[in-house]
Parts: sequence; structure tokens; C-alpha cells
Amino acid sequence: MTHPPLAWPSTAPTFGEVRLRAFTDRDVDMLTDLSTDPYVPRIGTLPGDADGDQARAYITRQHDRFRTGTGYSFCVADRHTDEAVGVVGLHLAAVAAGRAGAGYGVAPRSRGRGLAGQALTALTRFAWSLPEVDRIELHIEPWNLGSVRTAEAAGYEREGLLRGHRDIGGDRVDVLLYATVRPVGRRADGNGRAVPPGTA
Ligand SMILES: CC(C)(COP(=O)(O)OP(=O)(O)OC[C@H]1O[C@@H](n2cnc3c(N)ncnc32)[C@H](O)[C@@H]1OP(=O)(O)O)[C@@H](O)C(=O)NCCC(=O)NCCS
Repeated sequence: MTHPPLAWPSTAPTFGEVRLRAFTDRDVDMLTDLSTDPYVPRIGTLPGDADGDQARAYITRQHDRFRTGTGYSFCVADRHTDEAVGVVGLHLAAVAAGRAGAGYGVAPRSRGRGLAGQALTALTRFAWSLPEVDRIELHIEPWNLGSVRTAEAAGYEREGLLRGHRDIGGDRVDVLLYATVRPVGRRADGNGRAVPPGTA
């Protein structure tokens, strides 16, 4: 399936202590740290205990997502130092129906500081600058309390349990459906160009 071309945000999405930007080769070290979490390779394409080449190949795949119109994959960076702390993505496979999906991960060494919730908030505000997106969904395994708290911190609401919804690492698992819908009055500019958070 072909996707329409995407526009990269003219102003980097920012919230709290984080800024969302494109990946660079300087982020390899963060990705190798992230890949030590055994859950991360189960839910994405970053291999477990990735070496430098595997991390660089992952970065190339994230750029390809944007280039092919399948979604935005941002490096989550400290807004003051630009140090990479994690990943957050907006998936647009179902955008023709007004729906997007989101996913996130924070490198183990940067966890416990509220950064995941801030990154998801920045991503969500950016998503409302895209006229096609009216709803953003998260799929979270019920045991993943850190992810549940992240979703709630970013204003997502629990809508139910989807039984046997996903194949994760070869296991068919239940997932909680969390979602947020476009706030009343927060319109994109109608041209598909990003509007800085707070101005829409
Ligand atoms: C889930 C994840 C993104 C959280 O990142 P983080 O930056 O540490 O999250 P935060 O510091 O914003 O913490 C969010 C909340 O979750 C809580 N939390 C974090 N890990 C937790 C755990 N293992 N058990 C229970 N609560 C936890 C924190 O105490 C915090 O709660 P609070 O809002 O009441 O203070 C991170 O653990 C991760 O990358 N996990 C692997 C990938 C993953 O699961 N992604 C989500 C897939 S749906």
C-alpha cells in the first residue's frame, strides 16, 4: 500500500524535559541500552542486546518509516543536553480511518523520571497537528504497569480489554486498549503542516 508523503514537524515537539527529534548515529549507545530490556525486542524491531551495527540498522528503519509515509519514529532526547533517552512513534497504517497508534520505550538508565509520559504527551500534541488524525490508540499488556501509568499521565483513557489481540514474541496475548481523541477546538491548520503545540 502506498502512503501520502509526510511532513516533518517544523518545530520539534517538546514537553517537560524532553524534545522529539530525528535519530542520528549518536543515539546508538541509548539504543544498545534500550535493547537490554528483554521486553523491547518482543514489541519492536530492535534486536535484544543489539550491537552497534544492529542499532544503526534500526535507525535506518526509523528514517524509512517517515520516508515511506508509514509513520513518525522520534528519538526522545533531553531538551537541555540533547542526550537520547528513548523512542516514541506514531503509526499511521489506519490513518485513512482517522486512527493512529503510538508506542514508546525509555532506556533503562533513564527510567523512573517521568520521561515516558512527557514523550507521549509531546507526541500526542504533535499528532493533533495532523488533520487526518482524530484518535490515537495504545495497546498495553495488563501486567505492564509502567506503561499503563505512562498512558494515564499523557491523558489516555482505558476503553477495555482486547482478548487475544496481538501476537507478541509468538504468544497470543490480551491487551488493554487505551485511547485519546482529538480535543474539541484543537484543529490542525488544514494544510497538513505542523502547528506548534498550544497554538492550534
Ligand atoms: C514503560 C516505560 C516506557 C516507562 O518509562 P519511564 O520513563 O520509566 O516511565 P515514567 O518514569 O514516566 O513512569 C511512569 C509511571 O509508571 C510507574 N512505573 C514505572 N515502571 C513501573 C513498574 N515496573 N511497575 C509499576 N509501576 C511502574 C512509575 O512509578 C510512574 O508512576 P507515577 O506516574 O505514579 O509516578 C519503560 O519502562 C519501558 O521502556 N519499558 C519497556 C518498553 C515498554 O513496555 N513500552 C510500552 C509498550 S505498551
